[in-house]
Amino acid sequence: MRYNIAIDGPAGAGKSTIAKRLAKELGAIYVDTGAMYRAMAYYFIQKGVDKDDIDTITKLCKDVEVSISYENGEQQVILNGENITGFIRQEAVGNMASATSVYPVVREKLVELQRQLAARENVVMDGRDIGTVVLPDANVKIFLTASSKVRAKRRFDELTAKGEKCDIDAIEKDIIERDHRDMTRETSPLKQADDAVLLDSSDMTIDEVVDRMKQLVKEA
Ligand code: C5P
Repeated sequence: MRYNIAIDGPAGAGKSTIAKRLAKELGAIYVDTGAMYRAMAYYFIQKGVDKDDIDTITKLCKDVEVSISYENGEQQVILNGENITGFIRQEAVGNMASATSVYPVVREKLVELQRQLAARENVVMDGRDIGTVVLPDANVKIFLTASSKVRAKRRFDELTAKGEKCDIDAIEKDIIERDHRDMTRETSPLKQADDAVLLDSSDMTIDEVVDRMKQLVKEA
């Protein structure tokens, strides 16, 4: 049977770790849509565009080609033929992605690509608008969240483990700002779909969240 699973939620809720694990256990394809918005943002940064310059962003959207492929099961993001997967995780790219994903011209392109992928394969797709806009008919919809404190702590631990110096309060402030922008934008704001199941992972381990999701998939 063909199926699609939509996982939405704010930054740092653990969506990608969990969606990736779930996809592996189900034998489905994991699609990280945030990486696509990051790819566009990376392109805008490379071109030296200001995040508010909608005219130039609109023009650039006409020439840019984003696609994904898989290498050893890991999603790769291809921008105009070049694999840029290694360059899109910096905070600057995330912030530019959050700022430029508000533009319908940016979203249209990527939503089309996301729908094509889901039409071809069983997918576990994560993002902000998957259950509400991209795949309104997904078989299972999950809204995964956690408190901003817990999300900031997870991000802090992740960066510290990589040897990066960072400040937990600044991270939390950034998370709150990004959530606010994602939730209040006009086009496809981050919100729980009416038929999505809310999962708060603040006090749950990764295993517990994945098990709960597998149970939801089974029930569906
Ligand atoms: O999930 P990630 O942090 O990689 O996403 C980067 C940014 O891309 C988010 O802050 C959000 O603004 C945007 N995004 C979006 N819709 C999606 C996925 C990501 O607007 N489906």
